[in-house]
Parts: sequence; C-alpha cells; structure tokens
Amino acid sequence: MIRKRTILITGADGEVGHGLIERLAALPERPSIVALDVRKLDRALRPMVERLIIGDILDTKLLETLTTEYEIDTIYHLAALLSTSSEFHPETAHRVNVQGTINLLKLAHDQSQSRGQAVKFIYASSIAVFGLPDVATKQAAGMVGEDQYLNPITMYGCNKLYCEHLGRYYAQHYQQLSATRSIGVDFRCVRFPGLISAVTMPTGGTSDYAPEMIHAAAQGKPYASFVREDTTIPFMAMPDAIHALVTLAAAPREALSRLVYNVTSFSRSAEELAAMVQRAFPQAEITFRPSDARQGIVDSWPLGLDDSAARADWGWRPTYDADHAFNDYLVPTIVELYRGAE
Ligand code: SER
Repeated sequence: MIRKRTILITGADGEVGHGLIERLAALPERPSIVALDVRKLDRALRPMVERLIIGDILDTKLLETLTTEYEIDTIYHLAALLSTSSEFHPETAHRVNVQGTINLLKLAHDQSQSRGQAVKFIYASSIAVFGLPDVATKQAAGMVGEDQYLNPITMYGCNKLYCEHLGRYYAQHYQQLSATRSIGVDFRCVRFPGLISAVTMPTGGTSDYAPEMIHAAAQGKPYASFVREDTTIPFMAMPDAIHALVTLAAAPREALSRLVYNVTSFSRSAEELAAMVQRAFPQAEITFRPSDARQGIVDSWPLGLDDSAARADWGWRPTYDADHAFNDYLVPTIVELYRGAE
C-alpha cells in the first residue's frame, strides 16, 4: 500500500480546526489532510480534506490504523475539553486532554521511526496554564512571561500545562535509556489567549463571554455576561490564531529557542468589549451578571501575555488589533453569517 504524506488535525470540527482546514486547503500545494473529530465535520469543509474520521483520540486501535495507512509528517493536536466543561467533568477532561495527547505523541513518535524523520507536533495550549492567586497580583503582574505564575486552578489548565511538559519529554527524553533512540517528535506549542471567531461559537470555554456577546448582538438577542465589567484578559481574532499555528509549524527548528510560546493580540475588559459591540450594534442589550465560579477562573488568568519570544524567534505578529478585528473581521463576517441564516 502506498502511504500518503499527510497532515493530521485532531479536533477538526472545533473552532480552530475550521479555520486551520480552510487555511491549509487554500495553500498552492494543497496538502493531504486527515481530519479527526468525535463529531461529523462541517459539510462545507468536507471537500477540503482527504479523509474525515469520526473517532476518538482515546481509541488507540484507530490511531494505529492511521499510522499504517498514512505518512503523517505534521500533527495539529487541537482536540480538548475546554475549561468550563472540564470543571463539570474533571476526570473525563483528564482522559481526553492528557491521555489523548499522549496517544498522539506516541503516534508522532512511531511515525517518526517508520519515516526516519522528525514529525512536527503542533500543540494548542492556553492561557489557562497560568494561575494568579488574586486580582491584585494579576493587576501588578501585567504581561506575564512563559515561565511565570504556572499554578493553574482548573483541570483544563493543569492538563494543558502537563501536556506541554509531555511534549518536551517526548521531544527530548522519550526512550532515553534505549540504545536505538533517534529523532522523533518535533514538539512546538502556542499558548492561546481567548479566541474570537466570527463564524463559529466556542463550547465550554471560560473566555466565551467575548464571542457570546458579539454573536448575541448580531442576532438581536440580549446577553448577560457571566463576568464583571472590569474583567480583563487577552484575546485574539481566529485568523491570527491560525496564522500563529501555521507560522510556528513553518519556522526552521534552529530558530526556536523554546518549545512553548505565548502569543497574544489585544487585552480588553468585558466593559470595553461591550462598548465595541454596542458601537457596531447599537440595539445590543448587554448586561453583567457575574457567576462566582467562572469569574474566579478568569480572575486567575493574566491581564496580558508577553509574547516577545515568539516575535523574536519566528516573527510572530498579530494582524488584528482590537479595532481592526472588530471593524474588518468580526462585525462584517458575523453580519453576513446571520444574514445568511435569516
Ligand atoms: N478559551 C479557553 C477556555 O476558555 C481558554 O483557552 O477554556
């Protein structure tokens, strides 16, 4: 059987998966993409992928089959239960977020052995790896570097932080006592801030108040934010998140001084976001009804991220600042989206 060179995307039907498939399918060389998700892939994306597999990253038999059928040279591992969902189902979250990641790291390792080449493993981590003890510390800390305040208070944050370490382990130390140790996993990771997409809605995240506010306004629905007005975390428009993933994947290995990089675009308070939404949709009804539990999670996430290492090593620059994201991406695309739904 001829094995095809392939990019594997897990969580393909998720928000980031959508944008990534569109971006990769638009490349002139049009790579072969295998999309894996527990849900069916959005119909519009199906022609863009070589194969759609509805399956679970915990199914090791399924992953072994992939190893024999395809020559996977890059894995974008996006599948995860987000922070709010993970608090409701912590043990399930641990299984999916941690065991699922180990299964894919092992797949990457096995592929690298059979191909005799490193396999790129691009991992989507999160601002949730940080855990600031209180709002005063958060205010004082400002922009947080990669190695500061790594005391996550959520299962999701613990899972992501541990998987960053597992990525480092598989890249640098896996089978360290074996005589046949060879090149294996080329692990590269971005820590995303809250992501805002104009075309999809997140499920089960705690930064969701931002996209929910915008999508509700565009549909003429009232929205009650589950965080306080002054709550501030960093955000990024979805096209920049995709840009970060593909730029990091394309960077020469020798340019990378670290395995894990912060990336960010703009920090805004919930009140500032609401004002921007209100300017774009003057009829919008936005109120604030904080939930203690979810508020506590966002309060533990930093005000901003220091992404200077990503800027220096692989030329990371967001395309969208807050105004550009609202005026030129979010508002026009969302208006179009819901006009189509009318
Ligand atoms: N957006 C994610 C969440 O809220 C954070 O990475 O869970």
